[in-house]
Amino acid sequence: MTKTIKILGVGSSLREGSSSTAMLKIALDFVKKHGAETRLLDLKQTNLPLYDPNENQSGLELRKVEEDVKWADAFILATPDYHGSMSGTMKNFLDYFWSEFAGKTFGYICASHEKGLTVMDQMRTAVRQCYGWSLPYGISVNGQDDLENGKIMNQVLKPRLEMLTRDLVVYGNLIRQQFVTDIDSDLSDTFAAHYRK
Ligand SMILES: Cc1cc2nc3c(=O)[nH]c(=O)nc-3n(C[C@H](O)[C@H](O)[C@H](O)COP(=O)(O)O)c2cc1C
Repeated sequence: MTKTIKILGVGSSLREGSSSTAMLKIALDFVKKHGAETRLLDLKQTNLPLYDPNENQSGLELRKVEEDVKWADAFILATPDYHGSMSGTMKNFLDYFWSEFAGKTFGYICASHEKGLTVMDQMRTAVRQCYGWSLPYGISVNGQDDLENGKIMNQVLKPRLEMLTRDLVVYGNLIRQQFVTDIDSDLSDTFAAHYRK
């Protein structure tokens, strides 16, 4: 039986009128059409301190971010292309988590004047280190050419986003459910066994 998948969108641009966050909001609307529950974590609106492993970091905003991450079955990460890399804001968000990403699927959006492929690969690398799964393709958006007033003007981009959001709901659900099933089992020959409490 298919469960309702919970998808957290993470926006990481601090720019007013951000293209990556605009595209993320459209993507969250699309996944809803496939029956997903959604939440938006816009890091521009969130005071997430620089991750410091020496400190026992706390605070209401961090607690809320942790709650959102644990709630999610799958993620859409959206970032600007900064020097071929993800934003520092996104990297800082990722640094806070590890086991919370295991067995969850990630889709990627990058606002770039190029294609943002290295940017998405870097996010994939960080997610893979945490035993998260990634969709093998992502969405690259060029704000000037592709968006107007928060709507997609590029008719090639729209079906691509429809494909990504559909795939995230379907594959994200399959992977999450199998991971949870494996944790609940007594199988030892699965990576999920490492996350059994
Ligand atoms: C510090 C900095 C570095 C950037 N580096 C690149 C880059 O390497 N390649 C690129 O295509 N765009 C680069 N850009 C442009 C941004 O990726 C582009 O403006 C993007 O649309 C910003 O995303 P946002 O609208 O979500 O903030 C850079 C912008 C800044 C501020």
